[in-house]
Amino acid sequence: MSLSFEGRVVLVTGAGGGLGKEYALAFAQRGASVVVNDLGADTKGGGKSSAAADKVVEEIRAKGGKAVANYDSVEDGEKLIQSVLDAFGRIDVVVNNAGILRDRSFARTSDLDWDLIQRVHLRGSFLVTRAAWNHMKNQKFGRIIMTASAAGIYGNFGQANYSAAKLGLVGLANTLAIEGHKYNVYCNTIAPVAGSRLTETVMPPDLVAALKAEYVAPLVLWLCHEQCQENGGLFEVGAGWIGKLRWERTQGCTVRRKNQPATPEAVRDQWDKICDFTDATKPANTQESLQSIVTVLSQVESGEINMNPTTAPAASVSEINPANAVGYKIPPSTFDFTHTQCILYALGVGMSTKDPDHLRFLYEGHSDFSCLPTFAVIPSMAAMMDGGLGAIPGLSIDLTRILHGEQYLELYRPLPTSGKLVSEATIADVLDKGSGAVLLLDVNTYSGGELVCFNQFTVFAVGAGGFGGRRTSEKAKAPLPPPKRAPDAVVVDATTRDQAALYRLSGDWNPLHIDPSFAAMAGFEAPILHGLCSFGFAARHVLKRFADNDPSRFKAIKVRFAKPVLPGQSLQTEMWKEGDRVYIQCKVKETDAVVLAGAYVDLHGASGASPESLTQGDGLQSDLVFAEIGRRVKDTGSELVKKVNAVFGWEITKDGKTAAQWTIDLKNGSGSVQKGPFSGKVDVTFTVADEVFMEVVQGKINPQKAFFSGKLKVRGNVMLSQKLEVILKDYAKL
Ligand code: NAI
Repeated sequence: MSLSFEGRVVLVTGAGGGLGKEYALAFAQRGASVVVNDLGADTKGGGKSSAAADKVVEEIRAKGGKAVANYDSVEDGEKLIQSVLDAFGRIDVVVNNAGILRDRSFARTSDLDWDLIQRVHLRGSFLVTRAAWNHMKNQKFGRIIMTASAAGIYGNFGQANYSAAKLGLVGLANTLAIEGHKYNVYCNTIAPVAGSRLTETVMPPDLVAALKAEYVAPLVLWLCHEQCQENGGLFEVGAGWIGKLRWERTQGCTVRRKNQPATPEAVRDQWDKICDFTDATKPANTQESLQSIVTVLSQVESGEINMNPTTAPAASVSEINPANAVGYKIPPSTFDFTHTQCILYALGVGMSTKDPDHLRFLYEGHSDFSCLPTFAVIPSMAAMMDGGLGAIPGLSIDLTRILHGEQYLELYRPLPTSGKLVSEATIADVLDKGSGAVLLLDVNTYSGGELVCFNQFTVFAVGAGGFGGRRTSEKAKAPLPPPKRAPDAVVVDATTRDQAALYRLSGDWNPLHIDPSFAAMAGFEAPILHGLCSFGFAARHVLKRFADNDPSRFKAIKVRFAKPVLPGQSLQTEMWKEGDRVYIQCKVKETDAVVLAGAYVDLHGASGASPESLTQGDGLQSDLVFAEIGRRVKDTGSELVKKVNAVFGWEITKDGKTAAQWTIDLKNGSGSVQKGPFSGKVDVTFTVADEVFMEVVQGKINPQKAFFSGKLKVRGNVMLSQKLEVILKDYAKL
């Protein structure tokens, strides 16, 4: 579907020419009411004329668009926004684009050169945006664009004043993105490149002509559309190319030791390490940036960073020897359980009697009482927690510094709800990621000698890398990114303040999840939720939305633990269904931070009767036929209504489960064909598999035969099935 701006009111500042003009034309062309602002100044900010804005407005109107001109300076932000409200009654989009240049080498930059640039670019964008802000907040919609420049991001000779203002806009946008987020007011920044009167003095004429301003407009329109959920992004754009920027930070180095002063010599000695971008991190917000820094405090205090800063970190070369470790089997462990553990686990991952369909996991007397599939991680956890990890040959690691990185779980049969499970863990591989070592632990769990499930734990041992091992492994179950489209389903579910306190009772006793002082030592503001608890939430969201809460349909799940969750925060699971695979991404609703990434759930026969497949009817051949019947009924409905005078209900099944419902109404009005649950009275209902339906339609099998062989089931007024021919007879051609 093309992106429309019908009903939206857009302000583009400095739209009398150059880039702003192209934005104004593009917005208007897609239905927006546009305020074309331009002071009509020269490139240095001198002079004033209404001609520039008027010409653009004329051009828009000539093409049938809606636009008015405004000649205020962006320094009159309030006045400017008031004129937008006077003209169109609301403000949805602000594109801060107005700009001037006063290039000088730094030594020759005058106060006026400095001030004018700050006033137009930075202060102007501030004033216009502030005037629009509350209107956007109140209407819970707003899109704001800031215009930065490569000169600000990278620096450019002779543009100190301009660079400062342009990067200032990035900072402004970063904070607006945070403050506006919950009101659906998003702010993004672009650094465009285009031929315009601003660049004609610095670019050769053929480049000015080739780098058309119209190549930039599509990005601006997308970022300003209601469908676009990007917020706080920074993009370089030009020539029809668009790229996104972010910050990168080296692993860094702590140059301080317990009870000793930090010295410039230590900084000098560690300089290469401080500046080494190998395994760089990409902090996305202040919390992430701070967290690792605050961790250093407790690390230094606990003596963890106590070596001479020039020596290697904790686990040194001799302590990890993959050749000895890989293939090592941890002694098997036995897990005895009853329905109590199943129920405790279900409560631990947020199930509640508030949802009647959760009862089958919460009440042992329920006729379908079952164990949640993700409970299968619990017995295998036990296998490792029983001290197994501590005694592996060739693997001497600091167990207080291990992080659970990823999890893969595959079930071969539904879990029993009580009994004895035996788990056998093997070190599948040990990888060297530089900053740490990655252990792949494969755990097979058996019930009465039969394999029930397989778990792969990906464990990151901080500081244990650098032993010269491989970086990747063919044994690793890889995380997969979700499709690049809006999710098919989103579920938001609050965790409680006591979620971690409850979850740990299932067997994960790490104090990190309950003890505030322990959590603080690890650098967290409070005890964090178990990654496997969020994992349980996300898995049951998929199970409910796409598999009718039927544990036998659950095949496998993979997740990467990207960020911590605090108990009490809400989890937002976004789901994309592609065949039998449901890609998932789980975020903390309050912060928008992705906590489970690269995740997916595989289902058995996922095209069954979940509400989604009822409405989507994935890949059913019969859909085409019903669509065609619908078209014909539209054309000749009244005639058919006279002939048939009945309402037919269809249940199309796939793999034995209802996959779609259709109503062919040839009784009321001039007839209609509708997909979805039957509405109103149906005279006769046919239940038939998608493929049998196609055989009937193509004349390969006649309806009576299908009926007598049990392939076509009929309920209600059976006699009416004779009238079926009237509807179906012409479809053999399809
Ligand atoms: P332009 O000079 O064609 O357009 C800027 C417009 O802003 C002019 O029409 C001018 O009259 C108007 N303007 C100046 N001061 C104003 C004020 N106080 N109030 C209202 N309007 C005012 O230049 P261009 O290239 O289209 O630039 C648009 C924006 O993109 C500017 O912010 C510029 O700094 C930025 N930019 C452009 C690049 C390029 O390659 N063209 C590179 C990087 C950034």
